[in-house]
Amino acid sequence: MYNNNPTIEDIRDELKTGHNTPLSEDRQGEVLSLENPSEAATKKFYIESYGCAMNFSDTEIVASVMASSGYASTRIMEESDLILINTCSIREKAEKNVRQRLSVFNKVKKHKPGLVIGVLGCMAERLKSKFLDEEKIVDIVVGPDAYRDLPGLVAGAEEGNKGVNVLLSREETYADISPLRLGSNGITAFISIMRGCDNMCSFCVVPFTRGRERSRSAFTIVAEAQDLFDKGYKEVMLLGQNVDSYKWQHPENEENVSFAELLALVADVHPDLRVRFSTSHPKDMTDDVLHTVAKYENICNYIHLPVQSGSSRVLQLMNRTYDKEWYKERVESIYRIIPDCAISSDIITGFCTETEEEHQETIEMVTWAKYTMSYMFYYSERPGTLAARKYEDDIPLEVKKRRLAEIVDVQQEESLKSNQRDLGKTFKVLIEGNSKKSELQFKGRNDQNKVIVFPKLDGFEPGDYCHVHVDEITSATLKGNIVK
Ligand code: SAH
Ligand code: SF4
Ligand code: F3S
Repeated sequence: MYNNNPTIEDIRDELKTGHNTPLSEDRQGEVLSLENPSEAATKKFYIESYGCAMNFSDTEIVASVMASSGYASTRIMEESDLILINTCSIREKAEKNVRQRLSVFNKVKKHKPGLVIGVLGCMAERLKSKFLDEEKIVDIVVGPDAYRDLPGLVAGAEEGNKGVNVLLSREETYADISPLRLGSNGITAFISIMRGCDNMCSFCVVPFTRGRERSRSAFTIVAEAQDLFDKGYKEVMLLGQNVDSYKWQHPENEENVSFAELLALVADVHPDLRVRFSTSHPKDMTDDVLHTVAKYENICNYIHLPVQSGSSRVLQLMNRTYDKEWYKERVESIYRIIPDCAISSDIITGFCTETEEEHQETIEMVTWAKYTMSYMFYYSERPGTLAARKYEDDIPLEVKKRRLAEIVDVQQEESLKSNQRDLGKTFKVLIEGNSKKSELQFKGRNDQNKVIVFPKLDGFEPGDYCHVHVDEITSATLKGNIVK
């Protein structure tokens, strides 16, 4: 590790000599555990995770904290002494799922009275101690910045004392905690580079559940990437709600590290370590970042640039702080600076007062920007947000859903067209493992983050790079064969 507060130049030098040692997809209830839990552990915890990659990354921090207090992870709920659920509040449905899971845990607890049940994450932060009143089976409620306090809270609960810690911090980045890579394929890993969000998009609960934005020390990020590479990982995904506003200052010489500089530092770890990042905010994404992506072969040519709406009036109500023209200019810059870059998006349909014409503008944006894929949602009012306080949620659910279905159709056509443009091309692919459908086929991703499925070939294993010629496509997948 870097003990003597080195300068950024020192890190660059170390990278060159190779002696240094050692973050809007909505995932649902995945159970993560280690294949070989520590034998020294005397107790077992079971954890389910919901929501975005940041939450899954936090689950790995939680696992590390619990492991150091003598808990091993298990995938079997019934054999655990502690059940944790890392929750998401982004839409109403996400919270409903959590409540349903709690009723399942309740059944297990009836047969096992000593079992401790803890709610973590964004819903814990949003509801705070109300959780204990609303859900009698919950013993502890812990917000995203309070995970260091988990062992103490669990110990208290074991003695019958319910506990809540939902303090948000301006400093906590868990920089010194080495995440336990639960359920990892050993090839790709998340690295959280920042926490919280200072934007106030009017629909969004995240600023309330995750607190103020703070960036993690560049040293510890680079060290984590190097450590992962040394352990055989081939891809890191740098995570933050708004990675472009990453800004870290060296404690001694006040040198600033921007996101573009951080990207370059991580890319310099090794040419065989692929670097991805998410999420880029249209108002903050700089040409510097684009030039860095273009310069490094190992930084993937893929940018997740959520538009949310194609209408400038709706964007203003959403408080996104950019308009349609600004967004289009950013997209043009991406295609100018990184010609083969893939762009994906997040879209919300039926936001307060959205007209049919404004909905058409969003449809036009999907086609104009040539998104390779999008995460698409209908608007779900969240308590406490600016929109909930200021605007009436006036678009009927059927209309929201119909507009969503229309956007999904248009995106599917765009994805198909984009994949058709890839027919006959050859891509460098990182093999991730077996394809979902067949053990005789591998699945991997190309530089543009597209999934490619191809028959296995002797001499190639997961974690290897190979070149795949695309000879068949669907709207979701490219198919091909390894070429030597
Ligand atoms: N920081 C990221 C977004 C994180 S939340 C960004 O600014 O782009 C992931 C996505 O969930 C958002 O991009 C948005 O499309 C969606 N989302 C957030 N709040 C929502 C709500 N109240 N209703 C429906 N979708 C929402
Ligand atoms: Fe939410 Fe906006 Fe922050 Fe993204 S940038 S997390 S949408 S407030
Ligand atoms: Fe992520 Fe859901 Fe929280 S999207 S930041 S887990 S509200």
